[in-house]
Amino acid sequence: MALYSEKVMDHFRNPRNVGVIEDANGIGEVGNAKCGDIMKMYLKIEDDIIKDVKFETFGCGSAIASSSMATELIKGQPVSEAMKLTNKAVAEALDGLPAYKMHCSVLAEEAIQSALEDYRNRKENK
Ligand code: FES
Repeated sequence: MALYSEKVMDHFRNPRNVGVIEDANGIGEVGNAKCGDIMKMYLKIEDDIIKDVKFETFGCGSAIASSSMATELIKGQPVSEAMKLTNKAVAEALDGLPAYKMHCSVLAEEAIQSALEDYRNRKENK
């Protein structure tokens, strides 16, 4: 069996939603101390709906595929749904990741949660 699913390879070669949102109202950045990979998520939220999401990932192929898939899963969703996104859901949507690459999908979950937290903090401090 191939190590990586077709979907992982597709999202790695052709990642969706790469880039920066200049007027993002939720930004999260996380890193994994062990592998040194870094992921940054930008959210543009209006009326509690995720209108746009972009990412920058300095990391391995699985991290790039995970961030790409995670952005696709939350785009257009209400904040309450995005908050429920787990790394397991991201990995499942990619038709699986090798066990030792699961931490890459954790990074995507954490980056999104961190961006959502930033959004909440900004809203409260308005
Ligand atoms: Fe660290 Fe993939 S090896 S995020």
